[in-house]
Amino acid sequence: MTITENVQATQPNAEGYREFDLGGFHFRRDEFFAHVTWPTGSHVLSIDAFLRALQRDVAWEFFYGTVNFDGVIGTVNHYGTVDLFAGRYNDAYRKAELDHVETFDAPHIKATFAAMLSDWTNAGFDPFASPAETGMAFGVKNGNNDAAVTRHRVTAARMVGVPGDEQVRTDATHPINRMFADVPQDEPLIEAEPGFENEVAAFNLFAYLSRSDVTWNPSVVSVCKESLYCPTTEEYILPVIHGNDRMEWFLQLSDEIHWSVEDRDSGTKRANVIMRAGDICAMPGDIRHQGYSPKRSMLLVWENAAGELPGLIASGQAPSDATNY
Ligand code: PHB
Ligand code: FE
Repeated sequence: MTITENVQATQPNAEGYREFDLGGFHFRRDEFFAHVTWPTGSHVLSIDAFLRALQRDVAWEFFYGTVNFDGVIGTVNHYGTVDLFAGRYNDAYRKAELDHVETFDAPHIKATFAAMLSDWTNAGFDPFASPAETGMAFGVKNGNNDAAVTRHRVTAARMVGVPGDEQVRTDATHPINRMFADVPQDEPLIEAEPGFENEVAAFNLFAYLSRSDVTWNPSVVSVCKESLYCPTTEEYILPVIHGNDRMEWFLQLSDEIHWSVEDRDSGTKRANVIMRAGDICAMPGDIRHQGYSPKRSMLLVWENAAGELPGLIASGQAPSDATNY
């Protein structure tokens, strides 16, 4: 592991893991847990859940809005700077005045999180994989899995399959997942007018998704101005509780996901939503949500990446949910 200049890390502790400091926050792992402390408190998370959340926060560059690792700690993306918080979006911590927030330049917190992810992930554990398809996270330090934790994230510039862009998946690189063995693999026939061969593209999205080796990891497969199609395959539990700073649309492409929807700031329950194949919903911009997928399923997440949206919603100039249009 290379530790860049501004990452504050100790020598390996008794279990073989480095400990990390980010401002007043301290991160330590042992065989089973991540221990996080800050000036007014401390918190313990199971190391497998912690690494799954950390993996996504790093790979998604802090995502849209809030990434809650659980009901206590997480990050808020301000697109250039990032808040690291403890208890800030938890009513009990707020009322007891034990919550804590510090703001970091995005490259500094990203480098620290990436170094922690690399150091704390043992050989054989893949934080992006379904728990049914990976070894375990527990135990004393045992090698690393840098190939998995730094894997390429699919972000098409225009669309998968367009010349020079992200390419379709094949047996050689992405075998069909065990749960999607019945998904047809035929590709569309493209009949372009002469001269337009490099400008017309089409691909079988179901076949593409049936070959995903990761879970709960939306990839950008098509882009039209600020409109991003980010499909993903899901199994078990979304490892973060995502707090929106804008609306996002979910289209359930197969099987079923149960969503737990809470108020973004207090964590108060707002709804349980069960989405079955063909269902579509708009998640409001003032909630947080976590999904449970009993079988591996395909979900299309549709994002509006316009940079001005969070400000427009926060100032009341744009609505936070689709019913206000
Ligand atoms: C979300 O927070 O909207 C989200 C994140 C990852 C997924 C699906 C949905 O795989
Ligand atoms: Fe979300």
